[in-house]
Amino acid sequence: MEPVRWTGKTLQLLDQTRLPLQEEYVEYRHYEEVAHAIRTMVVRGAPAIGAAAAFGVVLAAQTAVAAGREVKEEVTKAVEVLAATRPTAVNLFWALNRMKRKAEEVSHLPAEEAVRLLAAEAEAILQEDLANNRAMGRYGAELVPEKAGILTHCNAGALATAGYGTALGVIRAAKEMGKDIHVFADETRPLLQGARLTAWELQREGIPVTLITDNTAAFVMQKGWVDLVLVGADRIAANGDTANKIGTYGLAVLARHHGIPFYVAAPFSTFDLSLKNGAEIPIEERSPEEVTAFGGRPVAPPGVKVFNPAFDVTPAELITAIITERGVIYPPFTENIARMMGN
Ligand code: MRU
Repeated sequence: MEPVRWTGKTLQLLDQTRLPLQEEYVEYRHYEEVAHAIRTMVVRGAPAIGAAAAFGVVLAAQTAVAAGREVKEEVTKAVEVLAATRPTAVNLFWALNRMKRKAEEVSHLPAEEAVRLLAAEAEAILQEDLANNRAMGRYGAELVPEKAGILTHCNAGALATAGYGTALGVIRAAKEMGKDIHVFADETRPLLQGARLTAWELQREGIPVTLITDNTAAFVMQKGWVDLVLVGADRIAANGDTANKIGTYGLAVLARHHGIPFYVAAPFSTFDLSLKNGAEIPIEERSPEEVTAFGGRPVAPPGVKVFNPAFDVTPAELITAIITERGVIYPPFTENIARMMGN
């Protein structure tokens, strides 16, 4: 599964707004279109957004060369536009900073050569993410019992990354190790990433999955069907506080009440050590229509006030461990995150 594909000249994104009913790639030639695709969630999930934005920068550089404009100037403009799409997932800013640094580094070279090196950098971001997911999978799978019920939220799978996935990567790896896994996928209101994407991904792979409404999570835990909760992340502060899809915090509270371990799987590109704690993480608010309509059909009285945050922050004290590409980080998080990241 390749949610982000580079053809050598154009960017192709698997349109996640159409899944699971249609499997369709859209082709992009201009960075403004890529920005629109990120905003409207044609591509979504923290690492996938970062990779798509990186290729958006390459498209900007290509456009500059074709129009005889300055590459560095066009790249600066593109970075600004792409950075203004979604505020919470730090992978977006991490990837854009990496591309900006590369653009500076190659600015003395002939324009075509600079574009080639920028494309190679974006490809590297994509390939490294894939390798990181596989490494996370290997470390994380060790934490999964031989027979396990796993509850997950949103989609932290191949679709949200370069492929393979973070939380779903751990599940894939556990399955590859021969473990007897059953996944409970929260549907994940309001945009249904769990129902539309996670259930689809797991089903395609033959990993047993039961779709539940978000409200059912407590009940399946009470029944003793959940051995661990496993989610991805959009931004992790220096103390381990973790922003992820709205509803994740509630799951962590439920897991603590039921004595169930709560794991976060995320690559280092999701950590933001410039933030002391989760209170500093910017939380995206999306349009009220996502809540007042279901499948395009209005389900609320016109004009009703809506609060629609796309993410919440799970306090570090509710997290059992964070699975990364370099190993599993346990509390105390502030010290252990800094040590693992080599700071
Ligand atoms: O709004 P989305 O669909 O981009 O939110 C995605 C999530 O919250 C994922 O759990 C997170 O980005 C981790 S993806 C590996």
